[in-house]
Amino acid sequence: MNIRKTDVLILGSGLSGLMSAQLLSSEKNVIVLTKNRLEDSNSYLAQGGIAAAVQADDSWYSHFLDSIQAGCHHNNKSTTKALVREGPAMIEKLIEFGVGFDRDSDGHYQFGREGAHSLSRILHVGGDSTGKHVIEVLKKTISEKDLVIEGETAIKLIIQNDRCLGVWSLNDNGEMTANLASAVVIATGGYSGLYPLNSNASTITGDGVALAYEAGTSVSDMEFIQFHPTLLMKNGLGIGLVSEAVRGKGAVLIDENGEALMDGQHPMKDLAPRDIVARVLYRTRQCGKQTFLDIRNVQDFPQKFPTITQLCEKNGVSLEKGIIPIAPGAHFTMGGIDVDGFGKSTLNGLYAVGEAANTGVHGANRLASNSLLEGLVFANRLAGNLLKEPSRRLPAELEWSGMEILKESPSHAHLREIMNKYIGIERNIDGLKKAAEIFNQLLQYTKRIEVPSLEQVQLRNQVLTGWIVATSALQRTESRGSHYRTDFPEKDDRQWKQRRIIRRKLEHESIKSSSGA
Ligand code: SIN
Repeated sequence: MNIRKTDVLILGSGLSGLMSAQLLSSEKNVIVLTKNRLEDSNSYLAQGGIAAAVQADDSWYSHFLDSIQAGCHHNNKSTTKALVREGPAMIEKLIEFGVGFDRDSDGHYQFGREGAHSLSRILHVGGDSTGKHVIEVLKKTISEKDLVIEGETAIKLIIQNDRCLGVWSLNDNGEMTANLASAVVIATGGYSGLYPLNSNASTITGDGVALAYEAGTSVSDMEFIQFHPTLLMKNGLGIGLVSEAVRGKGAVLIDENGEALMDGQHPMKDLAPRDIVARVLYRTRQCGKQTFLDIRNVQDFPQKFPTITQLCEKNGVSLEKGIIPIAPGAHFTMGGIDVDGFGKSTLNGLYAVGEAANTGVHGANRLASNSLLEGLVFANRLAGNLLKEPSRRLPAELEWSGMEILKESPSHAHLREIMNKYIGIERNIDGLKKAAEIFNQLLQYTKRIEVPSLEQVQLRNQVLTGWIVATSALQRTESRGSHYRTDFPEKDDRQWKQRRIIRRKLEHESIKSSSGA
């Protein structure tokens, strides 16, 4: 059995993981484990940019208000304040590292606009390839430190005396390693990959939440799944994202008859909060109509959006007529591992950051381009916290005792269909009970094996995470933001009123004793 030891073990190589590694590695030994290649993350795919109140006529308070109104006042106000107040300093830090945000011909930063923002405040790089540029800069800054191990997946946390001491990992050759660390940071992203139509990197399968939940850590807000209104469609399949920034430049959502879909739906029309726009598109499509993004008003589209132009060209989607086929698809998950404002989970020694964590800053529906910002701000807070922590004595050896996997499991595709059918953009009690029951049944029958395959681990994680989402969605008997229950319909003006804050933790419980409803 291989053993590795380090001060901080980071799982995942998206923005929050790499930023944490960069900030910690001058004083601590750090290892980053990533499932596939370093570049396989949602951060790398991020088009829109990073929202931050950095221009003269903006303020942290305005950014704060936009964030909590988009989030339907379900946000944690204290962490949301930290997000918007500490954001500009993190932008400065990225500039110091060498990130060249786009500027106009006078040298002023260009600011994009996206849904539910009251003004243009989104910094971007390369037009629509912000994530790729930022990750490439971070990759360069940490490359000489040789911190990243690719092709290795965390499959089980190592817990002793109520403390997380590391993770067992499995590499591409089926070899197991015990990775021991004073602190383990889960930065594995969210769980939108559980849906058939999604904008995520293929590596995003809800592993982080499943690992933490299995070990008894609290997770929360798991029912809040953000569907992005405009996934690029070809032959019924989603083939990438068309950034909301395109609507920020004047594009309009239309149906197959050319009717503008957001007219009369919300005062902000095409730039209404994402959950509202996604529902309008969903209902239009449920009526059997096709949906499109009309970009005829957007000047110099290929120059402004080179990544999307390339994506269309590569997939044979013509931009000549100025009409792009789109549909809503799962994009971002607001829920995750419950953490405090500095990344600490409810289990000693275990931390979470980025989309895997629930810091409460996104409420029931994330404000556009607040996710890379969250990754930066909370990586900085986490690193500040961990730098104060002493290194711990780690066990000299460990014994692997095998792992429970499902006796039987349908395919990933079938499991995704269950999520889509019963826990999609609109849900109700009957569908949610059905999904919870199906997942619960699958979790009843397990077997212990010595060394599982990655496929077996991922299927189990997918079922467990699906069960948690279904159970959480059943327990929230209201419609709020991205959690829309047709059996508890909302009032039309609900976005703009103060809401009661409801936060709930799903306590660790035995899956086998749960009714799932
Ligand atoms: C987009 O570019 O539309 C996505 C940005 C985000 O998810 O915040």
